[in-house]
Amino acid sequence: MNNDFINLLLTRRSVTAAEMTEPGPSDEQLETLLRCAHRVPDHKKLGPWRFIVFRGDARASYGEQLAKVFAKRNPDASSKLLEFERNRFTRAPLVIAVVCSPVVNEKVPEQEQVLTAGAVCQNMLLAATAMGFASQWLTEWYAYDKKFNKKLGLTKAESIAGYMYIGTAKNAPTERPRPDLDSRIRYLKEAE
Ligand SMILES: Cc1cc2nc3c(=O)[nH]c(=O)nc-3n(C[C@H](O)[C@H](O)[C@H](O)COP(=O)(O)O)c2cc1C
Repeated sequence: MNNDFINLLLTRRSVTAAEMTEPGPSDEQLETLLRCAHRVPDHKKLGPWRFIVFRGDARASYGEQLAKVFAKRNPDASSKLLEFERNRFTRAPLVIAVVCSPVVNEKVPEQEQVLTAGAVCQNMLLAATAMGFASQWLTEWYAYDKKFNKKLGLTKAESIAGYMYIGTAKNAPTERPRPDLDSRIRYLKEAE
């Protein structure tokens, strides 16, 4: 048994984007992250996902776009709030949008393809954790904003499975209460 991997699964914690700092993954580490995320169960091998990687100045320029969309939707927003929107993507050194790109297939309902895109996100969190990086899976408001999705080049059929924020933790995360496991399991042992 690979105890290190089991232990990673048993202890993984998200670190909030606000608690992240430099450094982020190197080019080589980014490639490994993407390759790990990409290796997911995928009914009929449809590959219904793609990645949009925000690094460097792209984070601030897309933050500017985000603030513009936010201002349109919230004309009374304070300059402080707009500044917060502008800085969303610069909270972490690396942000990766995982896009669910469903393929029409009579054997694979869209729900399964969304689940596969979710697996891509989870693989990325696990790979980032294994590399010693902090990570958080966020959707916030903009994952569901049609205008911003259009600016990002998503088609009408596509959706955001998650924004994966990745960096270095300023402080180690503490444990949080977990949902009760026992009440969520039903063991079937006897013939009925
Ligand atoms: C699809 C999805 C979207 C999420 N979106 C947000 C979000 O917008 N804001 C937030 O605070 N947490 C969000 N979370 C929760 C965090 O990623 C994280 O799971 C949570 O803080 C619990 O921490 P843990 O991963 O260490 O258990 C989301 C989680 C998932 C799976």
